[in-house]
Amino acid sequence: MCGIVGYIGKEQAAPILLDGLSKLEYRGYDSAGMAVYDGEKINCAKATGRLKVLYDLTHGGETMPGCSGIGHTRWATHGAPSDVNAHPHFNADKTIAVVHNGIIENYVKLKKKLTDKGYEFRSETDTEVVAHLLDYYYKGDPLEAVTKVMHRVEGSYALGIIFLEHPDVIYSVRKDSPLIVGRGKTGNLIASDVPAVLKYTRDVYFIENEEIARLSAEDIAFFNVDGEPIEKESKTIEWDINAAEKGGYEHFMLKEMNEQPKTVRDTMNPRIKDDQIVIEELGMTDDEIRAIKKIHIVACGSAYHTGVTSKYIFEGLARIPVEVDVASEFRYRNPILEEGALVLIISQSGETADSLAALREAKKQGIQTLGIVNVVGSSIAREADKVMYTWAGPEIAVATTKAYSAQLIAQYLLAIKFANVRGKLSDTEMAAMLKDMKKLPDQIEMLLNNKERIQKFANRYIAAKDVFFIGRGIDYAISLEGSLKLKEISYIHSEAYAAGELKHGTISLIEDGTLVAAVATQDDLFKKTLSNIVEVRTRGAFVMAVTNEGNTEIEKNADYVIYIPQTNKYFTNSLAIIPLQLFSYYVSVGKGCDVDKPRNLAKSVTVE
Ligand code: F6R
Repeated sequence: MCGIVGYIGKEQAAPILLDGLSKLEYRGYDSAGMAVYDGEKINCAKATGRLKVLYDLTHGGETMPGCSGIGHTRWATHGAPSDVNAHPHFNADKTIAVVHNGIIENYVKLKKKLTDKGYEFRSETDTEVVAHLLDYYYKGDPLEAVTKVMHRVEGSYALGIIFLEHPDVIYSVRKDSPLIVGRGKTGNLIASDVPAVLKYTRDVYFIENEEIARLSAEDIAFFNVDGEPIEKESKTIEWDINAAEKGGYEHFMLKEMNEQPKTVRDTMNPRIKDDQIVIEELGMTDDEIRAIKKIHIVACGSAYHTGVTSKYIFEGLARIPVEVDVASEFRYRNPILEEGALVLIISQSGETADSLAALREAKKQGIQTLGIVNVVGSSIAREADKVMYTWAGPEIAVATTKAYSAQLIAQYLLAIKFANVRGKLSDTEMAAMLKDMKKLPDQIEMLLNNKERIQKFANRYIAAKDVFFIGRGIDYAISLEGSLKLKEISYIHSEAYAAGELKHGTISLIEDGTLVAAVATQDDLFKKTLSNIVEVRTRGAFVMAVTNEGNTEIEKNADYVIYIPQTNKYFTNSLAIIPLQLFSYYVSVGKGCDVDKPRNLAKSVTVE
C-alpha cells in the first residue's frame, strides 16, 4: 500500500526516485508524484495512473533538477485516485513537502482543528493533515516539529519530509508502516522496501516504530520520538531483487497471510472509538438502521464465504433476516428485493463483473446498496450508494487471504453496530465483544507463528486426491473457504459440506486415508460435529480438526488437532482460517504449484 522513496546526495534526485518507485510497483498504486528541491524552491510533479505517465511528464526525471527529493506511489485510501490527491502534499506556502504511507486515523479531528485555525485543505487525503500540522508546529526546528506531529497523529505512517528552510536534509519517520534507510555511495536514501534501494546500496537500516531518521548527503542520524539521538546498526542485504519485492517471503501469498494482523487492525481500529463503533462512511442514522428489514449479501468466491459467515452474525446478534447469494446467481434469478432491504456487495477488487451487475440490479430496483470494497475508486466503490473500505492494501496473490480477513472484520463491525442500535446488544455486551475483537490481531499472529507444525503436516498430503471440509454454522462457512483455498492453489479436489449433510450422500466417497478437515469452534454445535467426525473416522477418514483451546476431548476422535485461542463465538472464522490458509499454502508449495498465480485463475474477474 503506497510506496515511498527519498534521495539526497550528489546525483540528480528525480531519476533515482523514479527508478526506486518502479521497484515498488508491486505494492500497487494508482497515482505517483515527486517533490525535488532545485536550489531555490521545492518543485512538484504528479500524475494519475501508471508511473510511466510521471516518467514521461518529467522526461525520466530530467526536467526536475536538484539532488534532494521525495517520491511516492499512492494506492488510494482517503479520496479517489487523482492528481490532487496524489502525494507529495504541501503546506500552504509550499515550504514543507510530505509523502506518506499508512492511515492517519484521527485525521478528521485534526483537519477540523486545523481548519478552525485557518488552514485550507486542497485534497481529500488524510496525509494533507500532516503537512499542515508540521507547518503549525514548525518554529525553525524541523526535528521539534516532527516529534510534535508524531505525538498528535494516531494510526500508521511512514513519512518522507522536506523543509525548504533546511534543504540539506530529509526527514523520515515511521509507525506501523514499513520504512528503511539506505547508505549509498553517492548519497542516502529512504524507501518503503528494500528493492527500491538495492541498485544503490545493500547497506540498510530498518527503522523501528516511532523512530526518526535525518538524512543528509553524507550522513544519517537517528532519533527517538522525543528527539533524542539513538544509535542504529545497519544490515547488509543478501537477498536478490525478486526476493526483496516480497519482503524476503518466498511468495506474495505468504507475505499477505503474514500481513493479516495489520490488515485486521487497520480495518478495525479507526472504526472503534471509546467502546463505540463509528462507521462514518455508512451515512445511516440510527432510525435508518432500525428500519432495515432484510439484508441481502451478494458476492463471489471467498468474498461470498465471508457473507455466509456474517449471515450467522447479523441474524444471531441483530436479528435481521439475511439472504446470501452468489452474485452470478443473484443477477439472473429475478430477486425479490423489498422496501427496507439493504444490499451488501462484498468485493476485494471492486471490479468483479457479476458483483457489479448484482449491484446495478439492486439499484435498478431502488434498493439501498453498501459496498464493502478494498480497492478505492473501483467500479463497485463508485457505484454503490455507500462504501465501507477494507484497509487491506493491495493484494497481489490470486488467492485472497488478507482481503478476506478484512472483509470479515468489516462485517463484524456492521453486525455489532446494527445489533446495538436495534437494542439487541447492550453497550456492555458490545464493549465485551470489541475487547475480544481487539485481541484478534495478536491471536492471528500467534497462529501464523505456528506455521512449521502445519507445514510438516501439509507435506504428508501433497499427494492427496480428495479432501473434505466439514463444519456446522459458522464452521461451515470456514470450511467453504478452507476448501476453496486448497483447491485453487494446490489443484487437489476438495469439497466443503455442512457436517450434518455428509451422510446424505457424500459420505460414500470416504475411504481409507481420505483427509477430512473438521472445523468445530462453535460450542453449541461441538457435540454434533464430534458425532460427524466419528462417522467419517469409522469409515477410514484421517481427521484433521480445528477447534478452540480447551476442547481436548476431540483428541480421542481426531488424528491431528489444531487449537485456536478463545474468542467470541462469532469471531472464530478470523482465527480458524489461518491454519487452513497455511495448510493450503504448504500443500501447494510442496507440490511445486505456482502459488501466487494458480492456473486458469485471474485476480480480478471482470467478465461474467
Ligand atoms: C479466492 C478468491 C476469489 C475472489 C472472488 C471475488 O481466493 O480470491 O474467489 O474472492 O473472485 O473477487 P472480489 O473480492 O475481487 O470481488
